[in-house]
Amino acid sequence: MPADLERIYGRLGFADQVLYSNFVTSLDGVVTLGDKPSAGSVISGRNQADRFLMGLLRACADAVLLGAGTLRATPGHHWTAEHIYPDAAASFADLRHKLGRKSQPRLVLFTASGDVATAHPAVVAGATIVTSEAGAKKLQGRMPDTCDIIEVGKSGSVDVARAVAELRARGYDVLLTEGGPHLAGELIESGLLDEAFITISPVVAGRDVDKRLGMIAGVELLPDRPLWSTLMSARRHGDFLFLRYGLRSG
Ligand SMILES: NC(=O)c1ccc[n+]([C@@H]2O[C@H](COP(=O)([O-])OP(=O)(O)OC[C@H]3O[C@@H](n4cnc5c(N)ncnc54)[C@H](OP(=O)(O)O)[C@@H]3O)[C@@H](O)[C@H]2O)c1
Repeated sequence: MPADLERIYGRLGFADQVLYSNFVTSLDGVVTLGDKPSAGSVISGRNQADRFLMGLLRACADAVLLGAGTLRATPGHHWTAEHIYPDAAASFADLRHKLGRKSQPRLVLFTASGDVATAHPAVVAGATIVTSEAGAKKLQGRMPDTCDIIEVGKSGSVDVARAVAELRARGYDVLLTEGGPHLAGELIESGLLDEAFITISPVVAGRDVDKRLGMIAGVELLPDRPLWSTLMSARRHGDFLFLRYGLRSG
């Protein structure tokens, strides 16, 4: 790692082939705010240390995985290191170079419906869209030239294990998922998620009429299928906690 990045975060490294997630959660376990946009930024209060970590984790990745729900909820965003934390752009680029990564991580978008905002700047900049044959038909003629498609299955949700295998076959070995909870749920259920980075923001979000999800949705593990994890590191910046859990060896 470039010295200035290591000075801020400490040492960080990954296995050659790995899939890790990154979420910011409120004290009471909320990561989404119903229909309100940019839930992560609201929950972190645009905390600079959290944004730095998001940048660092993106800088390490060959590709950033996203469900179409998160794309819809985050207009105008780019899932790149320098977009989220421009002050360290040069060091992030240096890190990618040292790791042998391409200049930007590939954005990989999962959609069953094929309902993807093809004018979203992150899609225009280039994305790999993972969808079914039916989803791909819907996207025909609407995708920018910078995009390509991985087709998995005939229709409906794609089998994430097959999708990840196809990404690996294309050379995307180090994968970051930035969610959201439904995609993370499928990755966990399929046993594909190796590590989870969790930022605990010192804010209480509450729950009432909005559908407010935790980090995982669409799958229930407790009480019958507990998934115990291992705390790999815990860091603190002000009132924020930055946790890294291993999900394989628990
Ligand atoms: N706090 C945080 O750190 C954080 C991080 C990420 C996201 N979020 C928030 O999470 C919310 C979105 O939550 P979400 O759970 O709906 O997000 P999501 O998992 O990103 O999106 C769900 C959508 O992704 C597509 N998808 C997921 N799995 C698929 C599969 N196996 N095959 C095909 N398509 C698949 C489907 O898209 P189609 O509908 O197109 O079929 C599905 O409706 C947003 O509010 C966002 O801000 C928060």
